[in-house]
Amino acid sequence: MNGEDLYVGNIYQRFPINIAKGKGATVWDTSGREYIDCMGGYGVALVGHCNDRVVQAIKEQVENLITCHMSIYNDTRLKFLQKISEISPKQLSRFFFSNSGAESVEAAIKFSRKYTGKSGIISMNGGYHGKTYGALSVTFNEKYRKSFQPLLEGVKFVPPHTPSVIEEVLDENIGTVIVEPIQGETGIIVPEDGILQEIREICDRNNLVLIFDEIQTGLGRTGEMWAGQNWKTTPDIMCLAKGIAGGLPMGLTLCKPEILDSIKIGEHSSTFAGNPLACSAGIATIDSIVEDKLVENALHIGNLFKNGLLELQKKHKIIRDVRGLGLMLAVELRFDVRDVLMEGIKEGLLMLYSGRNIIRLLPPLVLDEVKVLKTLEIMDNILSKEEVRRNVK
Ligand SMILES: Cc1ncc(COP(=O)(O)O)c(C=O)c1O
Repeated sequence: MNGEDLYVGNIYQRFPINIAKGKGATVWDTSGREYIDCMGGYGVALVGHCNDRVVQAIKEQVENLITCHMSIYNDTRLKFLQKISEISPKQLSRFFFSNSGAESVEAAIKFSRKYTGKSGIISMNGGYHGKTYGALSVTFNEKYRKSFQPLLEGVKFVPPHTPSVIEEVLDENIGTVIVEPIQGETGIIVPEDGILQEIREICDRNNLVLIFDEIQTGLGRTGEMWAGQNWKTTPDIMCLAKGIAGGLPMGLTLCKPEILDSIKIGEHSSTFAGNPLACSAGIATIDSIVEDKLVENALHIGNLFKNGLLELQKKHKIIRDVRGLGLMLAVELRFDVRDVLMEGIKEGLLMLYSGRNIIRLLPPLVLDEVKVLKTLEIMDNILSKEEVRRNVK
């Protein structure tokens, strides 16, 4: 598109669009064309592109201090920690900073292993936790794993919606269970009521550390601050990243104190951890989520969006399923979605995929009714064309 491909490996599935500007749930390409952004930077643009609070906070911080290693104290970092503590489950009162989702998961796995003294982990079929070696070891998709064996030993995968299987495969080496409350990458797989509670109970009965990977689901995305709250379930460790710092890189691993206290000085670290610039953006992000009532908006606008998609399903045979919570939605088609995504770009709508036949929608939580209606209209047009093209009656 712009010559980048000459420099970067052919590693990402790329779209033919070159974005120059963003505001809220809208982005503009280099020619000034406007798009509704239901891709949301894979969920990173949580509080909207160039959120005013975030922009202002970064501007102020950048004039004072950009970097400050964790070995030195910093008041912006303290303020961020106080803010995130206010909105986090109160049991998870110790925090480890990193710079991405995979790093947040790496930390969680290491902390749990040290605390339990056990290396075995149970993860879910379909689970996605990132692509560094530890995170990849608990990621299910063989496509990502097969060229990088051997991965961590002692990981067992179980079907996500059958907690009883966890007890069946338990052995004395297992210390950890890792779960995405709603599976994102695999296609917005929402658990039935009671499943997460049952997993929590199994962990309690067997002294297992329960990790929730809320990297995609957390911070209001599902219409609750934490997706686990939809089923009144709190983990022992929670992983965050994506939109937590308004678009700047930050990973955060929230732990019960006794778990993080089991790690000794130097056993884990990251040079950029807790840098003041990301923390200033994080403070503004949390302010925006809370004061601009974005969790409530995700619920309200998410319901509106989902109902609209369900209406489309009645009209279009090509749609097999509509599912999701809040502004984490999926439209499963009976066909490959690639053409639909490409048509979307032509019509001014950015969408994501999950696997071959699922459209994933992770728009900023500032999305409004006008944009939802426009999005539905565009999708309606595209699906009508697709049905004609594929001759579906
Ligand atoms: C649930 C979940 N965990 C982990 C990750 C990995 O995050 P990152 O790409 O920042 O390493 C992702 C990214 O999509 C994710 O959705």
